Amino acid sequence: MLECLPQVPEDSILGLAAACRADPNPHKVDLTVGIYMNEEGLCPVFDAIRLAQEALVGEERTKAYMPPAGDPGFNSGMQQLLLGTGSRALLEGRVSSLQTPGGCGALRIGAEIIQAAAPGARVWVSDPTWPVHIPLLGSVGLQFATYRYYDPASHGVNFTAMVEDLKGARQGDVVLLHGCCHNPCGADLDLEQWAQIAAMAESQGFLPFVDIAYQGLGDGLEEDAAGLRLLVERLPEVLIAASCSKNMGLYRERTGATVFVSATAASAEALRTQAQVAARRIYSMPPAHGALLAARVLQDDALNANWRDELQAMCRRINGLRTSLVSKLELCTERDFSFIEREKGMFSFLGLTPGQALALREQYSVYMLDSSRINIAGINGANIDYLAESVGKVLQSP
Ligand code: LMR
Repeated sequence: MLECLPQVPEDSILGLAAACRADPNPHKVDLTVGIYMNEEGLCPVFDAIRLAQEALVGEERTKAYMPPAGDPGFNSGMQQLLLGTGSRALLEGRVSSLQTPGGCGALRIGAEIIQAAAPGARVWVSDPTWPVHIPLLGSVGLQFATYRYYDPASHGVNFTAMVEDLKGARQGDVVLLHGCCHNPCGADLDLEQWAQIAAMAESQGFLPFVDIAYQGLGDGLEEDAAGLRLLVERLPEVLIAASCSKNMGLYRERTGATVFVSATAASAEALRTQAQVAARRIYSMPPAHGALLAARVLQDDALNANWRDELQAMCRRINGLRTSLVSKLELCTERDFSFIEREKGMFSFLGLTPGQALALREQYSVYMLDSSRINIAGINGANIDYLAESVGKVLQSP
């Protein structure tokens, strides 16, 4: 029965990371998967997470199942982190959430809820978007429409085109928005633009679904949540998919949350029960370890301060790498790369063709996605010159 299944191509992101791991070139540069790497090229465990883990391992006396909605401390901590402690929706009890296996689990649970409320609903996604959005949300039966977002010529958001396209979004449609640090382009909306999207959602009746996986890595924890908070302040309903992979370094612990902001407390509670049923159908209950660590970091003042400091240092370093990369590229090519400094978070497009990205891989062992998306956090003092020189050479070759 199973032999009929053919081999399928590797994932467009994870497959390239595997190819890079297998490359014996000692000068290879891995700019593929969105993982924060430090100066030593390692993805570090946050100090606060390590301390929380030591305490947890000492105190943990059971491996019994987690409650279906996950850890209550984690859920309330995440709600506050995302919405801010003074959030009106929180104070009015109009928010509920489900701990999920990573941000992907959060997106999938969000998709299940949309499908339950409006079967076959149309989800508007940005062009471009994270490639996994489509299979993740589409697997439950949702349909898609695209709105123009990134303008390769100006290397910024084409907001006029975005608005023009989203005029077609109606009541019953969902608009998927990147909360901050857009993946793959790094170009974000400013607050005025968020306000305009909120006004459109209000007048046209579409539901915003905000995927926020990089809070704290663009400008800071509060700044990066400002657009999302504006939507929540102005609209009765917002769906949120959040992840602790990047901002707590909990990648492999699969720690995330789907958060429901609803018009009434009763509806928020109903959504939580619906989400629990959906989770039960797929994986029953979430994994414990990452969420228990995150809950400690979110709740304990000392750990929280320690975590915020380390995250802020990472954010500063990413922004510093953006500046350094622009100046290194200036030395190696005539092309203007200053846009990299205006973008946010882990990703930017270099603006190369797929052929140039392939040449960088094959001739220089510099790995980026075919779209020329690079993980800025994969750059360090030891590889930045080689990276800039390789890009310069590929741009010069006919
Ligand atoms: C990425 O875009 O590289 C990350 O979100 C990791 C992933 O799962 O693709």
